[in-house]
Amino acid sequence: MALGFVFGVATSLPISAATTTRAAASATPSITYDATRKLFRIDTGEVTYAFGVDSDGMLQTLYWGARLAARDPLGPARVSPGHASFDSPGSTSPQEYAGWGGRITIEPDLKAHFADGNRDLVLHYASHRIHDDTLEVELRDIRLDVSVWLRYTTDPATGIIGRSARIENHTTQAMTVDAASAASWNLPAGDDYSLRYLTGAWAREWNLQTRAITPGATEIGSRRGTTGDQNNPWFAIERGNQWNEEHGDVWFGALAWSGSWRIRIDQDVLHQVRVTGGYNPFDFSYRLAPGQSLQTPVFYAGYTPHGIGEASRMMHRFEINTVLPQRAETKLRPVLYNSWEATEFKVDEAGQEKLAEAAAKLGVERFVIDDGWFGARNSDHAGLGDWTVNRNKFPHGLSPLIGKVHALGMSFGLWVEPEMVNPDSDLYRAHPDWALHFNDRPRSEGRNQLVLNLARKDVADYVYDVLDRLLSENDIQFLKWDYNRNWTEPGWPEVAPEEQQKVYVAFTNNLYDIMRRLRARHPGVEIESCSGGGARVDLGIMGLTDEVWPSDNTDPSDRLTIQDGFTYAYAPGVMMAWVTGSPNWVNDRRSSLDFRFLSSMQGGLGIGANILEWTPEENAVAQRYVAEYKRIRSTVQRGLLYRLLSPRDQSPQSATESVAADGSQAVLFAFQRQGHEAEPYPTLRLRGLDPKARYRYRLIHGEAVEGTPAEASGAFWMNQGIDLKIRGDLQAAGVVFERTGT
Ligand code: DGJ
Repeated sequence: MALGFVFGVATSLPISAATTTRAAASATPSITYDATRKLFRIDTGEVTYAFGVDSDGMLQTLYWGARLAARDPLGPARVSPGHASFDSPGSTSPQEYAGWGGRITIEPDLKAHFADGNRDLVLHYASHRIHDDTLEVELRDIRLDVSVWLRYTTDPATGIIGRSARIENHTTQAMTVDAASAASWNLPAGDDYSLRYLTGAWAREWNLQTRAITPGATEIGSRRGTTGDQNNPWFAIERGNQWNEEHGDVWFGALAWSGSWRIRIDQDVLHQVRVTGGYNPFDFSYRLAPGQSLQTPVFYAGYTPHGIGEASRMMHRFEINTVLPQRAETKLRPVLYNSWEATEFKVDEAGQEKLAEAAAKLGVERFVIDDGWFGARNSDHAGLGDWTVNRNKFPHGLSPLIGKVHALGMSFGLWVEPEMVNPDSDLYRAHPDWALHFNDRPRSEGRNQLVLNLARKDVADYVYDVLDRLLSENDIQFLKWDYNRNWTEPGWPEVAPEEQQKVYVAFTNNLYDIMRRLRARHPGVEIESCSGGGARVDLGIMGLTDEVWPSDNTDPSDRLTIQDGFTYAYAPGVMMAWVTGSPNWVNDRRSSLDFRFLSSMQGGLGIGANILEWTPEENAVAQRYVAEYKRIRSTVQRGLLYRLLSPRDQSPQSATESVAADGSQAVLFAFQRQGHEAEPYPTLRLRGLDPKARYRYRLIHGEAVEGTPAEASGAFWMNQGIDLKIRGDLQAAGVVFERTGT
């Protein structure tokens, strides 16, 4: 293969998977430019990333993989000779950020057209600057005064690199961006790659898919104006098709964007694999007047030789320590009660007070009123947009209830869906033009609601003011921020036709801006991102929220698969999971309270059942689990997750283990959906323990087989393992291992 560049170290580093995420923090990032070889090199965490300027002036990726020695030779970048006359040299070089123009036939990162009819854009290296842990490289068109600033940020704890682009029009004519990616990630050439990605639908989100990467393109994305749960903006690519949790080269990444997005994976004629991600080019158009610029979202990506399990742990660590807004304070998720499944729209002061009293007795720390507290909101047909307290339900406003909740020792949270409006609302009657629409065209409703055009400044200001007033007038600590439909007819007729498609960028940026301003003005308020479940979970919204609601499906058995899929990309510490009623409303499945609690304790624990109907025995069970959860939540939410047995494909058994960051505790959850009397439960071999340390186990629920030692070394639990007596359908066990010494 005539590749013209060198890639890849396939061997593993001589460190364990667990130490990668714990110890790599010490590896200082370094960004260098070698002027002789025209070579940029980023060393961060256990990763080296390098690209160079070739003799044509284009940027080419040279290496992305395990960290290399400082003096290892890389580059210079050479123009690939191409492949016959049909695949020109430029197109078979692994372009770092390709403009569409010149010889480029691959999927470009940037496509634009100009007022004079020109559509050719050839980007060459122009300049760069390095400051601390950030590199910025300027590309400029060969003729026009158009600059593209590529930005690279580094996270030494994980080796995850963030890439984005800013497109600047310095010409004297208008330039229209037809497509703009944040970055393209070039992998080493190879023909044994496979791709993992997440698909879903309402109430069945987070399904992990695998497909071989073959010549051609695979696209995942959303054209819906928001992230969507049909695909999630995350990918992982493995070399060798093993998909071993702990071994194997894995390249992975995620887009920090909550609007329409696309990630496209191409394999070219030379087996080169390229992952391009950014704004979804479908219906995209962004006009830049002279002097204007367009900033793309950030596309983060990383590499590990330690399998998909370690790739997930790196993402988790990155999200908790680098993405979340409260990152410096590492706030653990409080145990939450939410009234939705208990009362739906029938919320009122007396009913909520009773629920709050019952919740407090269980040890709940945050009480949340869901939908139905405002306007004429007695069903999903009316009221969205009218964010004033419904005085029939709360005659004295929210203050008495909030006071009561606080007196019971809990924080108070409220549901909102501020980007939406019901046509049957005062807001819509006053401002029908505020919804996304095309003039004189029908407006399609979803759940009887329309989407407010947040791209409009007056609408964005209204949404901010309403929420600011709500938070200023009421002592609220938490907002559940919902979003229950996708876009249709995304028109913005109030601006010039050539500006209207800016709605895709402006809407999401204004949403972020509203959240940013609210957080700054109300720093004590936390936000949950909910979108009818998990339809808006991405690194963009995560930077402005504290937790997410992964699914409306609260059946504890279905949840095992949903939660498993979620953890491939996102941290258990942001994933809320409620214990709700049995039979479950989604599928009528009955399950024990033990099974429901253990399933929910894999994330941020919440309760969403009608607890006024619980018996004294059920209350006692719940109290015990809530108390136990508080003892292990730091490990579950902030620790290292090991997926021991997968619940995918309706697997009857599944198990996860979380290990505290300091190694002092490990928590094991084991589930059996369907028992087979003749087969014992598989032995569970733990991971990530200190082999020399001693660990004593105690059971949260369940039984270990006779002869299991009360205490043994980490080596014992990791190699001999533990056998649990789990028999029958919908059974579960929870085990805590405490380090007792070395
Ligand atoms: C959808 C959410 O996912 C639910 O949890 C609930 O908040 C409803 N919306 C309320 O309308």
